Amino acid sequence: MRFYRPEPQVYSFPVSFHLVTHPVAQHALVALRDATTAPAEFRQLAHRIGLIIAAEATRDLPTTAVAVQTPLEMTTGQAIAGDVVVVAVLRAGLCLVDPVLNFLPQARVGHIGLRRDEHTAQAHQYSGHLPERLSNSVILLVDPMLATGGSAVMAIDILKAAGARSIRLLSIVAAPEGVEALARAHPDVAVYSPALDRELNSQKFIAPGLGDFGDRLHGTGVVHKQA
Ligand code: PRP
Ligand code: URA
Repeated sequence: MRFYRPEPQVYSFPVSFHLVTHPVAQHALVALRDATTAPAEFRQLAHRIGLIIAAEATRDLPTTAVAVQTPLEMTTGQAIAGDVVVVAVLRAGLCLVDPVLNFLPQARVGHIGLRRDEHTAQAHQYSGHLPERLSNSVILLVDPMLATGGSAVMAIDILKAAGARSIRLLSIVAAPEGVEALARAHPDVAVYSPALDRELNSQKFIAPGLGDFGDRLHGTGVVHKQA
């Protein structure tokens, strides 16, 4: 097995990147990267990692004191205050909706359909459906791959045009190029990811990466296997 140890990235401007170091996420990521992992296991691993990213990305959600009657007496607790919306970038982001909803069953859900052109790696939008009233909501944008950053920047442009003001990106593998592009375009958006990989290759795939996430998740493509 080949291990990849990321070097610390140095940026000449502020970047809001939260590396999710939880050992369970890191362990699952090894199998997720493995070129021989089939879609059924791939989905389970993505779900497990998604739960941990969701926990990390929602640590600071606002709460409010509430009263609760236990079988013995009244007491108080903290309930989440305010609206949370999870927005999946199709297709690959679909795998992170359920883990977020496991955490936040009350969250509303939106979808933005984006696809990278195979040759230019430029994203274009083919669908979209967002809940109304986003201006006071915390938006958890979920897309497992942050490569050039084109898709994330476009999704956030769309969200902001729809009124969103508080957005976090939950990702599984990020490239330094994508983190930089996102920080330049949307410096207010924090990224939560268990992996900051080395670079983009000449086809704008993340290296070492895990190949085409959407294809591996849905079983629609060839497995990218290293020699
Ligand atoms: C993948 C991935 C991201 C995007 C990242 O989607 O899920 O949305 O590429 O690349 P970028 O940062 O360079 O924009 P893809 O367009 O392959 O569509 P899919 O999810 O339907 O497979
Ligand atoms: N999209 C993917 O699915 N994988 C990459 O490496 C880059 C973009």
